[in-house]
Amino acid sequence: MGNNEFVEIDLELLRIDTILGFDLYLAGPHGYILYRSRNVPFNERVRQNLINHGVKSLYMPGKDMTKFAAYIENNLSNIVTDPKIKTEVKCQILYDTSINIAKELLFDPGSLSAVKRSTKIVENMVDLYLKDEGGIKKIIELMPEDYQLYTHSTNVSILSVALGKSLGILNKNELYELGLGALLHDIGKSKIPRHILNKPGPLSPDEFNEVKQHVRYGCYMVENNPVVPRQAIQAIQAHHERLSGKGYPDGHIAGDIPLFGMITGVADSFDAMTSNRVYQKAMTSFKAMEILLSETQHYDRRIVMEMLNLLGPEKTKVISTVPPPEVKLIV
Ligand SMILES: [Fe+2]
Repeated sequence: MGNNEFVEIDLELLRIDTILGFDLYLAGPHGYILYRSRNVPFNERVRQNLINHGVKSLYMPGKDMTKFAAYIENNLSNIVTDPKIKTEVKCQILYDTSINIAKELLFDPGSLSAVKRSTKIVENMVDLYLKDEGGIKKIIELMPEDYQLYTHSTNVSILSVALGKSLGILNKNELYELGLGALLHDIGKSKIPRHILNKPGPLSPDEFNEVKQHVRYGCYMVENNPVVPRQAIQAIQAHHERLSGKGYPDGHIAGDIPLFGMITGVADSFDAMTSNRVYQKAMTSFKAMEILLSETQHYDRRIVMEMLNLLGPEKTKVISTVPPPEVKLIV
């Protein structure tokens, strides 16, 4: 988007009695007209006046996008709990805000403020899931196919909370801890050299061993962070453990792998398989589910079946019983 372009903003997103921090424009027949200056509070009288004149949206210069994102983030819980705002809009806002924070987290993983902000996102995501059944499916539909570490982290968090809820975790705090751990599950990859993470061909044994270290790096990075609960760290610690004992870093077997690790592991593998990577094209959800279902020696079948339910019949119909070809270990 160019700096001279304008972005449409739904009136419902502008919260009453807040300072926006960006200028608002009306679309006129000859272009955009400044309507409200950035430092003037937006109040109910102004909103009602706009509604009375049939105005449903205002405009903001594209150059103020960062300010708009900060405004939305600061007012997130207010927006997510507003029954007048459509689920689709809430999901898009949650997804975009989560992506922004995940980007910042991976760029500066030591930032206490980024971790704190990510806790707010997960809290709001859990709120939406618990109050609005349709929110889960809608937010899953927003996941892009192209892999970036920050989109992957966001997707795994969304899928893990959804799986946790389907598996019967209805306690808000537990779902929050699961979602936060899943959002941070690959934070240790920020310590792995880019040329290894982005290598288009197969990794050498040494490179693979280095990539595996991301689990230990990740745990180390958050273990003393007061805003990350112990249970959330299980998602980081155990997302590459497999029931067969063939996972890493500890090679734990079924029974020794915490539930949060198993859930995050399924969400992680599913999202990695269905994303375009430097070394493989995105698989369809159907194909990825076929693989997960054929690998129940590694993945908990109950969790995989819940993933199947979550995606719905349209994406996963005609699950074949033919074993799929051997696939490389997802890192
Ligand atoms: Fe990982």
